[in-house]
Amino acid sequence: MHELHLNQHISKEEKYSSLLPQLKALTEDESDLIANLANITAVLKEAFNWWWVGFYLVKENELVLGPFQGPIACTRIGFGKGVCGSTWKQKETLLVADVEKFPGHIACSSASRSEIVIPILINGQVVAVLDVDSEYLDHFDLTDRKYLELVCADISNLF
Ligand code: SME
Repeated sequence: MHELHLNQHISKEEKYSSLLPQLKALTEDESDLIANLANITAVLKEAFNWWWVGFYLVKENELVLGPFQGPIACTRIGFGKGVCGSTWKQKETLLVADVEKFPGHIACSSASRSEIVIPILINGQVVAVLDVDSEYLDHFDLTDRKYLELVCADISNLF
């Protein structure tokens, strides 16, 4: 049984730095992908209290909703559709400061104002994306991008 050690009074960068090894420890003894992804969303939600955080997994020609924390969400997203499908297509992180300005943004929740989506890659192929939504405009920055990409690099080893 693991317990999350989290100091809420440190900088965002320090928080991410403290979480990275804990996420590794949390998942290293469990082989089930969904169990691991579920716990990862729980850690990220507890650490950052984002509006929505979760995974979409590539299944055949679509992204299908995986483990998440937050309000109910769209279950399927097509290739190139929305921020998630565009991340899949472009194979790179998309940081959207204002979702209303992103053409084709899929509004699962009208409360969501900004978003970051990070691809999870194996041998250059996207196998899933990590999607994080905030109810605040312009909530994510290059620190989030840097650390969430590190988190996703570790997650690719769980597939
Ligand atoms: N906004 C996303 C859809 C997923 S929900 O935000 C959870 C998109 O445009 O792809």
